[in-house]
Amino acid sequence: MNSVAPILDVNNLTVEYQVKTKGKRGVRIARAVDGVSLKIRPGETLAVVGESGSGKTSIANAIMRLIEPTSGSIMLDGKELTKLAGKELRLARSKFQMIFQDPFESLDPRRTVLDTILESLVVAGIGIDDAEKRKLALEALEKVGLIPAENVGARYTYQLSGGQRQRVAIAAAMILKPHLLVADEPVSMLDVSLRAGILRLMRELSRELQIATLFITHDLSLAWMYADRIAVVYSGRIVEEGHPADLISFPQHPYTKALVSVIPVPEKNIARNRIILSGEIPDPLEIPSGCRFSPRCPKYRALGQPELCISSDPKLESIGDQFVACHFPEKKETK
Ligand SMILES: Nc1ncnc2c1ncn2[C@@H]1O[C@H](COP(=O)(O)OP(=O)(O)OP(=O)(O)O)[C@@H](O)[C@H]1O
Ligand code: SF4
Ligand SMILES: [Mg+2]
Repeated sequence: MNSVAPILDVNNLTVEYQVKTKGKRGVRIARAVDGVSLKIRPGETLAVVGESGSGKTSIANAIMRLIEPTSGSIMLDGKELTKLAGKELRLARSKFQMIFQDPFESLDPRRTVLDTILESLVVAGIGIDDAEKRKLALEALEKVGLIPAENVGARYTYQLSGGQRQRVAIAAAMILKPHLLVADEPVSMLDVSLRAGILRLMRELSRELQIATLFITHDLSLAWMYADRIAVVYSGRIVEEGHPADLISFPQHPYTKALVSVIPVPEKNIARNRIILSGEIPDPLEIPSGCRFSPRCPKYRALGQPELCISSDPKLESIGDQFVACHFPEKKETK
């Protein structure tokens, strides 16, 4: 076990939305995040992976305090974020930065690249003179591969491609030396050919600058390649967590097993047993009782629909180096 203290330590996070309905009940509660706990240490990238609607953005937004969590604890550098307000919250916020999905919306097209980076320093109130700020900004552009920095810096952000814009967003975030970086689907709007470069850059910078990175993606193969640990979420819960190589080579939760089975493999002649799940992720207004994956779980059916799966909600428990929330996890065969 890694003994370095985590930068981010989230415990039992729950996010509920009030949803207005037409019927008599008026307002109903949608539980989008249901008891999520996670830790990220300096220099480490944790990927939170799940299909659309599983609660990934709600987790990220609650951690960043962009929405109020319903309950749970969020410790950043040992400070409880959920209890902070006003000036203290602003100070804590300066320690985390976010990279958004859409680099076309997140940058102001009327600013030059250099001004975009400088603005980041100004907003953060970093009190250094203009020449020093400019030097730092140019260094940041070089670090993210936007060279020659003087030339790229003079261009307007609307003149850049999506990949270049995302590099500008990364430079603007990293120049503030955040302790935590939250990247919500940072490459899903980019051309496939650009994705690897951006994710490699983020991982290198997080390791070099010892930043804790929360990387949110629906793509398990990207998490496998660019994360140090993976947490698979389903219907607002972490159902499995572990190191990428272990989790991919030996998924223990039936949901992870299905996700792994459809990862594209380059060798076309390898026969694969693809598991195609029927049905959809539950509506957070109507989460099934017992195990929330049971309506779609191939193992539940293969085992003859055991009562335990629908009567008891499985907790995330450690099995070796992995954590799994299933009453009947896959077992390694011992010879
Ligand atoms: N403001 C809101 N009010 C009501 N329900 C919401 C709200 N925001 C999100 N939800 C619901 O909460 C659930 C989780 O949404 P969330 O956006 O966190 O998922 P996600 O994993 O980020 O999905 P995607 O991959 O599509 O971005 C979904 O069912 C969504 O419809
Ligand atoms: S607890 Fe039962 S229904 Fe849930 S994932 Fe495990 S086998 Fe499937
Ligand atoms: Mg999302």
